[in-house]
Amino acid sequence: MKKTYLILVSILASMAIYSCGNSQSGNDDSKKAPAPAAASPAAPVADQGVGSYKNVELTHPVNAEMADKGKGIYDVKCLACHKLTSEKLVGPGWKGVTDRRTPEYILNFVTNTDEMLDKDPNAKELLSVCMVRMPNQHLSDMEARAVLEFMRKNDGKN
Ligand code: HEC
Repeated sequence: MKKTYLILVSILASMAIYSCGNSQSGNDDSKKAPAPAAASPAAPVADQGVGSYKNVELTHPVNAEMADKGKGIYDVKCLACHKLTSEKLVGPGWKGVTDRRTPEYILNFVTNTDEMLDKDPNAKELLSVCMVRMPNQHLSDMEARAVLEFMRKNDGKN
């Protein structure tokens, strides 16, 4: 059981989809191991998650004012658990989160955290790697949107 879990973690880390594990931990042997069924949930990049967000329209370039507001929210409510690099703290680092997750997924995760962690296959997978359940941060839709804009800025999006 423990071995299976370790293999799962290193597969996920080597796929660079989940950043809660150490992304350097994958080795060639673990890459060759067949992925257990649970390691292949719906393709993360296309997953919209569970919640009310179905069709998020992004602005280009990133809205600087919203991103600033998002940074303020991050400093108060997210920084304790999330770094802005790809390094794990309690939760995964945010670098690249806008590449590995859709905007809908991120907003659903942030505003509907409990249901996401209970029902979404990719969120459940991440929880099993991080081993800590993210508490709902009770952000309004506007606040969640501002944080998403800050994440996009952190990822150098335009
Ligand atoms: C107490 C620690 C904690 C706090 C505070 C926290 N998070 Fe999290 N977050 C986590 C953990 C742990 C995960 C990984 C999923 C899990 O195990 O629940 C996570 C996952 C995420 C994810 C999914 C990342 C991915 O790669 O799929 C997003 C998005 C996110 N958090 C956003 C936020 C935002 C926005 C805030 C602040 C408003 C915040 N988090 C505050 C612990 C935290």
